[in-house]
Amino acid sequence: MTLNKSEVSWKSPSNIALIKYWGKKENQIALNPSISFTLKNCYTSTSISFIKSNNFQYEFKFHGNHKPEFIPKLDVFFLRIKKYLPSLSKLSLKINSFNSFPHSSGIASSASAFSSLALCLIEIESMFSNIINEDNFFEKASFISRLGSGSASRSIYGPLTCWGKTDLFTGSSDQYAIPINIKNNNFPTFCDSILIVDSGIKKVSSTLGHQLMDNHIFKNERISQSHLNSSKLKKSIESNDINLFLEVVENEALTLHALMMTSNPNFILFKPNTINIIEHVLKFRDETNTKICFTLDAGANVHLLYPKSSFQIVQDFIKKSLIVFCDEERFINDEVGLGPEKN
Ligand code: DP6
Repeated sequence: MTLNKSEVSWKSPSNIALIKYWGKKENQIALNPSISFTLKNCYTSTSISFIKSNNFQYEFKFHGNHKPEFIPKLDVFFLRIKKYLPSLSKLSLKINSFNSFPHSSGIASSASAFSSLALCLIEIESMFSNIINEDNFFEKASFISRLGSGSASRSIYGPLTCWGKTDLFTGSSDQYAIPINIKNNNFPTFCDSILIVDSGIKKVSSTLGHQLMDNHIFKNERISQSHLNSSKLKKSIESNDINLFLEVVENEALTLHALMMTSNPNFILFKPNTINIIEHVLKFRDETNTKICFTLDAGANVHLLYPKSSFQIVQDFIKKSLIVFCDEERFINDEVGLGPEKN
């Protein structure tokens, strides 16, 4: 095959889980289904230039610099995916990645990083073999993303996606995420304001956190709860019950941290300012009746989710009452987006 192109490039967003993925089995299969909003402004842009080679090799740069600390995770990823993308074995890749959000913001970037990388790799494979075609392109990209980082599988689609088999969504799979289309034209578009409480590197990686679910005393209860919460979340969107939506999202965030606090060894990723922000948000919701809730990743930062129509009132609230709890007064405004774009 003659190639008329030797560089590919994709931009892929981060996502925020509403139903949390926490705990996995062999081969990056989650213990429970997870559901997320895909974001828009926080994304990774990855380009790969490639040439034929006798064996597989790659060079990786982030913002133009070599990053030795990323190499072990990338090595594991390439080892996992080589049997699914056979053309890679005869290519030498130069990978360049850029994040739209500050690297030291404490925002997990593995979802956007691995999904943009996977999209590039799938496009390259499609140039050499017919195992990738128009019909399976994104499904394969989600599958390959998952092998880099579980949450990355969900960044391939927007605005709402589910990874993991559940009776709630036809076509859902443990192997890849699917876009979910819940019929309700009135359900508002949400914003996500990310309050940076701690911009440092996490004390405990998600990967280690997942492992601690293997023998967790509440493992089975957590699996049942995630299914129940998924069905409540679906119902809240279908019936436009925003209060139920907010309740489920907060319950998932607090459960995630409760699981960390009750694992063995245990760990606490909250910071005092995480709690300060949560308390102010609950008070603000009570007093103003604004439809707003908080959610958390495996870290101290707080995501505020609220309908776009409340953008101004929430911005005023953040600046007046919450910014004092943020590291160097930093926060990032994002909103729900439609998924990756080819550059
Ligand atoms: C708390 O996807 O980062 O953000 O598969 O080990 O890379 P690995 O884990 P990762 O875990 C994300 C955990 C979470 C919840 C979520 O996004 O669903």
